[in-house]
Amino acid sequence: MGKVIAIDGPSGAGKSSVSKAVADRLGFQYLDTGALYRAIGIHLRRKNVPDDALYDETAAAIEGISIVFREGRVYLNDEDVSDAIRTTEAGHYASVFSAKKAVRDALLGIQRDAALDHDVVAEGRDMGTVVFPGAWKKFYLDASEEGRAKRRYLQLKEKGVEITMEEALNDVRERDIRDSQRDIAPLKKADDAICVDSTALSLNEVIEKMLGCINE
Ligand code: DC
Repeated sequence: MGKVIAIDGPSGAGKSSVSKAVADRLGFQYLDTGALYRAIGIHLRRKNVPDDALYDETAAAIEGISIVFREGRVYLNDEDVSDAIRTTEAGHYASVFSAKKAVRDALLGIQRDAALDHDVVAEGRDMGTVVFPGAWKKFYLDASEEGRAKRRYLQLKEKGVEITMEEALNDVRERDIRDSQRDIAPLKKADDAICVDSTALSLNEVIEKMLGCINE
């Protein structure tokens, strides 16, 4: 098992940019667990699995599914879904289906396997609490609701997605409620995680702060 740096936090706090940069600087691999949930969300949606499907129906629909990261791209059953998983709709279904035990059970092994032979920076909602409770370093990256909605808005605009600031704020609020109030593996700071608030910090300041804690 390699070293794991777990970075959890709500949507839009800047986890992806920070995690990628920290991984780069340390020569660790970057594990984007949100991408796994997004890919599985797309798959279940395509299979018309309803939001309220029970365990067996959900488990049957994802049996044999393959989600692979290759050269920075994400493949769902060999189809490149790297762009498709980044829409607000894909984020919505990822959040909805990630509350299902069958989905979390299916992804647990994939996530842990990624750290078997490599040092990883693992980003998500339950890295420090459930997937890697013994992680070498744990962080909880937070930011104000408005700050996170603004980041989400700018990211999507840059990708050419039509969205208003109000829609971005609603998306962040809805996902906060769903991700933190679900029964299984809810978004929660691990007791031993270092909390970093990115609201008033630049990306570089957050990265330097984390690297400082890691090197302590
Ligand atoms: O980080 P993201 O926005 O790509 O994540 C999409 C959704 O996936 C998020 O709303 C909740 C879910 N998720 C999760 O439940 N557990 C994780 N470790 C990562 C993501």
